[in-house]
Amino acid sequence: MARLVEMARRVAQVDATVLVTGESGAGKERIARLVHDASSRAPGPFIAVNCGAIAETLLESELFGHARGAFTGASCDRPGLFEAACGGTLLLDEVGDVSPRMQVKLLRALQEREIRRVGENRSRSVDVRLVAATNRDLMRGVEVGTFRRDLYYRLKVVELHVPALRERRGDILPLARVLLASAARRMKRPVPGLAPRAAEQLLSYDWPGNVRELSNAIERGVALTQGDVITLDDLPAEIRRAIPKTPIDGGAVRLLADVEKDYILAALEVNGGNQTRTALQLGIGSATLYRKLKSYGLIPARLSAVSLGVAV
Ligand SMILES: Nc1ncnc2c1ncn2[C@@H]1O[C@H](COP(=O)(O)OP(=O)(O)O)[C@@H](O)[C@H]1O
Ligand SMILES: [Mg+2]
Repeated sequence: MARLVEMARRVAQVDATVLVTGESGAGKERIARLVHDASSRAPGPFIAVNCGAIAETLLESELFGHARGAFTGASCDRPGLFEAACGGTLLLDEVGDVSPRMQVKLLRALQEREIRRVGENRSRSVDVRLVAATNRDLMRGVEVGTFRRDLYYRLKVVELHVPALRERRGDILPLARVLLASAARRMKRPVPGLAPRAAEQLLSYDWPGNVRELSNAIERGVALTQGDVITLDDLPAEIRRAIPKTPIDGGAVRLLADVEKDYILAALEVNGGNQTRTALQLGIGSATLYRKLKSYGLIPARLSAVSLGVAV
């Protein structure tokens, strides 16, 4: 991520078109915003348009504008988003969803730096830095013929790939801390801490919805928490249920002691904190389990109690 942010800042200095790729919720729009904010266009507008959410005919007039009378309901001349973004940055989100006809028009706009409003025959030049984002594999689209190769290369002058959250687990807790503070601020509540077991579960979960999902889980936790700490019970069920991964993740071999700790804590969770049953299932003595829990700095009898809520 540090390399990605550094690259985003560097590419911000020039007007090159940028393609931001990555799974939904990973932070593509956030990176696009950074490219804008770190550029000389920062005082200008930043406009994001979700190309996948708008019907083709509507998208054309949204992006390029239209002349009065161009179609039923076009009661006045209206500039499109390309013109609205003049002097700034236009983010074409979900660009992989754009129809072939619109792809041709986008290519032309990119090449000529000109657009034509629907129903008009004169071109207008536009001064816009374009950033495109997609959660699809555009190269695959090119191969199967749904995405134009020439447009692909035009967009991909610089590609910034945002890794999925599960590919950078080290970011989970620092992000959680930032999101916790901002959710608390929004809800006008004191910033709660995160109980160790809640933090463990955040680390074990796979985050298919990436940072957006983490943000929602944290917001939910802040809304539900009774005390000054977010506990396991304040997290959504799918996150509470997550079992720590044992296979080697992304080639990074972990300390055996850490893997053991994750597994023991998960087993304890499955057993609702019952140490006797947990020890039995793990095939170790209760005294051994107690000793291990103690070495983790957990007072077993009050495992998820508020008094253990050490903030991350
Ligand atoms: N590095 C980050 N720091 C703080 N919040 C982030 C970060 N990355 C993503 N987010 C938040 O996660 C959510 C999803 O990010 P977004 O950029 O919209 O993802 P995408 O465009 O890839 O779907 C947003 O609410 C965003 O503010
Ligand atoms: Mg997005």
